[in-house]
Amino acid sequence: MTVLDSWRGLAGNPDGRAASFGVSDALITEDGVSMAPVTDLGAGRGPFWLDAWLGEHSGDLVAWRRHIHANPELSREEFATTKMICAVLRSAGLDPQVLPGGTGVICEVGSGPGCVALRADIDALPLTEATGLAYASATDGVAHACGHDAHTAIVLGAAMALASAPDLPGRVRFIFQPAEEVMPGGALDVINAGGLDGVDRIFGLHCDPRVPVGKVGSRVGALTSAADLIELRLTSPGGHTSRPHLTADLVHALGVIITALPSLLSRRVDPRSGTVLVWGAVHAGQAANAVPQDGTLRGTLRTAEHEVWKALEPLVQSSVESLLAPTGVGFQLDYRRGVPPLVGDEDSTAILQAGVEAALGEHALTGTEQSSGGEDFAWYLENVPGGFFRLGVWSGEGEMCDLHRPTFQLDERALPVGVRCMVHTALTALA
Ligand code: NI
Repeated sequence: MTVLDSWRGLAGNPDGRAASFGVSDALITEDGVSMAPVTDLGAGRGPFWLDAWLGEHSGDLVAWRRHIHANPELSREEFATTKMICAVLRSAGLDPQVLPGGTGVICEVGSGPGCVALRADIDALPLTEATGLAYASATDGVAHACGHDAHTAIVLGAAMALASAPDLPGRVRFIFQPAEEVMPGGALDVINAGGLDGVDRIFGLHCDPRVPVGKVGSRVGALTSAADLIELRLTSPGGHTSRPHLTADLVHALGVIITALPSLLSRRVDPRSGTVLVWGAVHAGQAANAVPQDGTLRGTLRTAEHEVWKALEPLVQSSVESLLAPTGVGFQLDYRRGVPPLVGDEDSTAILQAGVEAALGEHALTGTEQSSGGEDFAWYLENVPGGFFRLGVWSGEGEMCDLHRPTFQLDERALPVGVRCMVHTALTALA
């Protein structure tokens, strides 16, 4: 029996309960050998119930992560992953609730008025894995190349460990969120379903292949950027290139926008905000001697500043209008707002850093830079304060393979590290 078979058995259980779930099932590999537990870099740091849970179940973390890795599902299609998460949580006597869309799970432990949320994203990417791992994706064209398999296993582990605690100083809510990889992100599904109701603070993490395993990066302020999508369609009556004055020269107008809009924005927006417009696609025309009738431009506009993000759409609209007015070319602007910048507040970042220190020691803390990428965890921080940490997953040897690459891999010692950081951050927040 393989790990996968044992989970397929679970999925086939009509009431979805994990009656047959146990360590022995989860730890059996293709070779019929118990899956080896991973080294726990924070072993013995307490509390005793966390040490005990990890001592017994760090192999489960590996098995869960590998199972999810081998069975990746795209955004809002995470049905099997959702079922597996529920089965594991029920095996500890918890009461997981599936989100209205049918994917994603919310579950709580503890009691009392105080509530802290821990969030994992559960979806995979539409790309083909090329790691050659024994547990590589079994689904063509879908892969966990962003480490969400590890995020899911970590928050599952935190839930199971916290469920084993003799008493908790409040409630901890676990959010297994679908669809992080698509704009504007499944975080909005969670919020719309009331997933943040009653939550005082929320914490999340993301794997970081540039940080060695055992280290955790954090910073006060912006951690990721806002990322909006711009699609601009230009129109002209078209005509002969010998008589541009009798029509509207669409290709020339495209050229004006391509160069002038980014540079205009750089003079209208505070440069310290890290605002940048980069075009990714341009299409127009065919013949050398014909002015085309339509053309399109697509690009992304990113910024680190929340106030700037709010002002960008009207600024782009008016700038395009002004730049095109003298050309006579018509336009249609499709401005799609993505996610806001992820901005960790001072108090929550201090809680998170205290949590990491308690979990692993002061040496585990490291700084991190702001990334130009988007992360939909930012939506939660529009509603409640919180923090986000970058979990080191680099083994310390070989290439630091970037996220979203078909060859992305992580050091599984990061799994117990992640559990310890999440648990201690929750305990610190509730204290
Ligand atoms: Ni990701």
